[in-house]
Amino acid sequence: METEVTHTALAIEGVHKQFERFTALRRIDLAVRHGEMLCLLGPSGCGKTTLLRIIAGLETQSGGRILQNGRDISWLPPSKRDYGIVFQSYALFPNITVAENIAYGLVNRKVPKQLVDDRITELLELVGLPGAGGKYPSQLSGGQQQRVALARALATSPRLLLLDEPLSALDALERVRLRGEIRRLQQQLGVTTIMVTHDQEEALSMADRIVVMNHGVIEQVGTTADIYERPATPFVADFVGKMNVLPAVALGDGRFRSGDLELECSGAERYAAGDNVRLYVRPMFPTGAAA
Ligand SMILES: Nc1ncnc2c1ncn2[C@@H]1O[C@H](COP(=O)(O)OP(=O)(O)OP(=O)(O)O)[C@@H](O)[C@H]1O
Ligand SMILES: [Mg+2]
Repeated sequence: METEVTHTALAIEGVHKQFERFTALRRIDLAVRHGEMLCLLGPSGCGKTTLLRIIAGLETQSGGRILQNGRDISWLPPSKRDYGIVFQSYALFPNITVAENIAYGLVNRKVPKQLVDDRITELLELVGLPGAGGKYPSQLSGGQQQRVALARALATSPRLLLLDEPLSALDALERVRLRGEIRRLQQQLGVTTIMVTHDQEEALSMADRIVVMNHGVIEQVGTTADIYERPATPFVADFVGKMNVLPAVALGDGRFRSGDLELECSGAERYAAGDNVRLYVRPMFPTGAAA
């Protein structure tokens, strides 16, 4: 018998969610590919968190089903599903150390102590906090706490990582720094990731593909270029609009030339001199100025 080859890590089929008379999700279909970073992007209340919670088994769907690597997980409790999750607020246990926080899922699975200790060391290195295992969450900054939350989510080496606005409680500088770190880590581990955000810049800078949601439906699924250059609906054009697309040539070291303009883009150092690229530029207005 031939083994079926599937490129779908997670299949969401006709998932519907009704809160009494309110429809939060309307028959959502979505195929998440192995190893990709998918961003659920949309305005407040459009159903992003509800969808993530249904995938995690923290909320039950009113209809439809979810398959992970071909297996129907729709009715499995959270503990029987294979994922790690990070929430907006740090949600670390405040009364135990960083190391104990990270170890939580491993201890529950009765992993031997030496292996747990080795794994904690490895994870703390991975998220850039070596030696912080003995601290308590209150002794860490918001960004450091989210790095610990990430380490905790990755501890059991889940095949799916779920992130619900993991950066939105952080200050602007830390947010941008952690964006890059999460993306690097995600690619290094090759872990299939679904991240919720209402920040288009965040989606743009991190996602392989973006899912634009509105009022419980998916408006469009596509790459950054698809979404910005070929918006499928007026909502998408409006929601992700206000973005200029500049064709440019990379000069190396994160510098680009577009016509007479020379631009420096942080995080874009990987482009080699001579590469043709498209720069997505969003006008920023100083606080108080009229847009
Ligand atoms: N337990 C619940 N009972 C009733 N309504 C709910 C419940 N949870 C969510 N909703 C409603 O479902 C809709 C979608 O909520 P959800 O939290 O998924 O939105 P979201 O896209 O994550 O928004 P935000 O960006 O503000 O986090 C909202 O209108 C919300 O009020
Ligand atoms: Mg939400």
